[in-house]
Amino acid sequence: MNLKGKNAIVTGGGRGLGKAVALALAAEGVNIGITGRNEEHLKKTAEEIKMLGVQAAFAAFSIDEEAAVKSGIESLAKELGGVDILINNAGIGDFGSIEEMSSETWEQVIRTNLFGVYYAAKAVYPYLKEKGEGDIVNVASTAGLKGGPNMSAYAASKAAVVSLSQSMMAEWRKQNIRVITLTPSTIASDMSIEAGLTDGNPDKVLQPEDFAEWVRDILKMNRRALIANGSIFSTNP
Ligand SMILES: NC(=O)c1ccc[n+]([C@@H]2O[C@H](COP(=O)([O-])OP(=O)(O)OC[C@H]3O[C@@H](n4cnc5c(N)ncnc54)[C@H](OP(=O)(O)O)[C@@H]3O)[C@@H](O)[C@H]2O)c1
Repeated sequence: MNLKGKNAIVTGGGRGLGKAVALALAAEGVNIGITGRNEEHLKKTAEEIKMLGVQAAFAAFSIDEEAAVKSGIESLAKELGGVDILINNAGIGDFGSIEEMSSETWEQVIRTNLFGVYYAAKAVYPYLKEKGEGDIVNVASTAGLKGGPNMSAYAASKAAVVSLSQSMMAEWRKQNIRVITLTPSTIASDMSIEAGLTDGNPDKVLQPEDFAEWVRDILKMNRRALIANGSIFSTNP
C-alpha cells in the first residue's frame, strides 16, 4: 500500500525508536506529528522530517496526563489536517528490584507506559472512526510476555499494554482500524544503551532503523491484512 499523503502521530518521536519510525514513514511521504516532553529533541527531529519533503509538527506534553494528551493530539491533527496512523511508542524503562524500587517509581512506570498508550489511543480513535479506517501500532515489549528479575514495573506495564491492545483490536477492527501489538526485544536505542541493557554493537544488536523498517512494512501491507502481533529479536547478540 502507498502511504504517501497519510498523517501519522508518533508519541515519543523525538528520539530513539519513535524518531526512527517517524523518519522511515516520512521517507514514504507520510506527514508526521511527533510528541514528547523534550522540546529540543522535538524541534530537531521535526527539522529532519521536513528535510524529507513532508509536513512536520510537534507537541510537547507528558503522556501520563489525559487532558494534555487530548489537547496535544487535537492540535497536531488540526495542523496536519487529520490523523490516519498512531504509533503509540512513548515509554520509560526503569529497572530495579521489587524490594528496592520505590512505589512512586513503580507507579510512574505504569502511568507512563500503560495509561499513556490508553490516553493516546482514546484521543486518536475519533479521527479514525470518522474516516472509517486507520492504524494504531502499540509498542509493548518481550518483557510484557514474560516477567523477569529487576523489571517488575516495566514487565507489568508492557503485559498490560499487550492486553489493552488486543482489546482495542477486537473492538475496532470492524471499523477497518488495524490495531497492531508489537513486542520487540532489546534494540540499541538511547534508552537501552543508557540502561546498560546492550552495548549496541551494530554488527550484532538490533538498531532503531531495523524496528522502523519493520513498522513501515507492516503498515504498507494491503488493508485487508492485519498483523495482529509480532516480535523482533537480534539474530545472534
Ligand atoms: N529499546 C528497546 O530495547 C525496547 C525494547 C522493547 C520495547 N521498547 C519500547 O519502545 C518504546 C521506545 O523506547 P526507546 O528505546 O526508543 O526509548 P527512548 O529512547 O528513551 O525514547 C522514549 C521516548 O518516549 C518519550 N517519553 C517517555 N516518557 C514520556 C512522558 N512521560 N511523556 C511524554 N513522552 C515520554 C520520550 O520523550 P521525552 O524524553 O521527550 O519525554 C522519548 O521520545 C518504549 O515504549 C519502550 O518501552 C524499547
